[in-house]
Amino acid sequence: MIERTVVLIKPDGMQKYIVGEIISRFEKAGLKLVGLKMIMLTEDILKVWYAHHADKPFFPQLVQDMMATPVVAMVLEGEGAIQKVFDICGPTDPAEAAPGTIRKDFGESKPKNVVHRSDSAEAAAKEVGLLFRSEEILI
Ligand code: PPS
Repeated sequence: MIERTVVLIKPDGMQKYIVGEIISRFEKAGLKLVGLKMIMLTEDILKVWYAHHADKPFFPQLVQDMMATPVVAMVLEGEGAIQKVFDICGPTDPAEAAPGTIRKDFGESKPKNVVHRSDSAEAAAKEVGLLFRSEEILI
């Protein structure tokens, strides 16, 4: 099934100057960029984005960390895009990620894991809607 999914290059990833490297990994896997922008996330957006983590002890720090610098947000499209992006990024904890994944290669810890990716079709639809207007998706 052709799917769309969202990736954010988080502030810790932005500070490593690896934006091109990260996008290149997705393109080499056959995923198509259909949306791309650099933005400053706001507390209002992050409270919705991470609503499922609102009761976790790390939530306030997570919101602050995500506003430390602009982030790159992208929408990727392709066959099985959600799982493909999941595999290219690796799991949340870089210590558990396989070599060659973005999080193993560049991540430091669960909070500093370089990228965010949608973890389901429902999350992807919510995240596209939060950051992109329909005319900003270019196919
Ligand atoms: S967990 O461990 O099951 O809650 O992990 P997960 O649901 O995959 O994602 C957690 C997101 O919160 C960010 N974050 C942290 N996770 C765990 N522990 C700490 N201390 C922490 N601080 C921040 C983590 O980077 C995940 O963000 P996303 O954007 O989803 O990758």
